[in-house]
Amino acid sequence: MPRRPVLVFAVLVLLAAAGLGGYAWINRHAGEDRGSGVALVGGPFTLTDHNGRALTEKTFLGKYMLVFFGFTFCPDVCPTELQVITAALDQMGPAGDAIQPVFITIDPERDTPATLKAYVGNFHPRLIGLTGTPEQVAAAASAYRVYYAKVSNSSSAADYLMDHSSIIYLMGPDGRFVKHMPYTTDAAKLAAELKESVTALP
Ligand code: NI
Repeated sequence: MPRRPVLVFAVLVLLAAAGLGGYAWINRHAGEDRGSGVALVGGPFTLTDHNGRALTEKTFLGKYMLVFFGFTFCPDVCPTELQVITAALDQMGPAGDAIQPVFITIDPERDTPATLKAYVGNFHPRLIGLTGTPEQVAAAASAYRVYYAKVSNSSSAADYLMDHSSIIYLMGPDGRFVKHMPYTTDAAKLAAELKESVTALP
């Protein structure tokens, strides 16, 4: 039995394995992109706005929707973020009109429509506050891959904070995810990011 063909065969097997491995690696990473929650963000929800009107994700079709989840009792991140969103939309001028800013509470126990109405008035004049039953809010947060949890810091049941993810999501006029921005994005950068997306489509 000559040795060489065995060697050649072994090398071919190794090359094939490496090729398969490489293919699997690329596929897995492409899959990660889709599976990271980024492209799968968004989906159906039924909530109540700050005027007490029931609405769904379909209400926003035809407009860009800028979504941020939080709660009105939030001492820092939420009000800061809503100020940044307000400033970014103002900086965009008329281009900003294509974008509907939406604040979805993850604290439905305390954030009633009336509470939200008083709160959103502190920020952008077109900002819509959304709340719902705990189940409706949980479904919306789940659709947007938003994490939240109650953090009790005293014996009083009414005195608590909410731990929550703070990501800004831009959804397209077709209701699909466009991009997300971390809450550390400043107003100028956010305005630039939004402008880029809004002007990219006809
Ligand atoms: Ni917050």
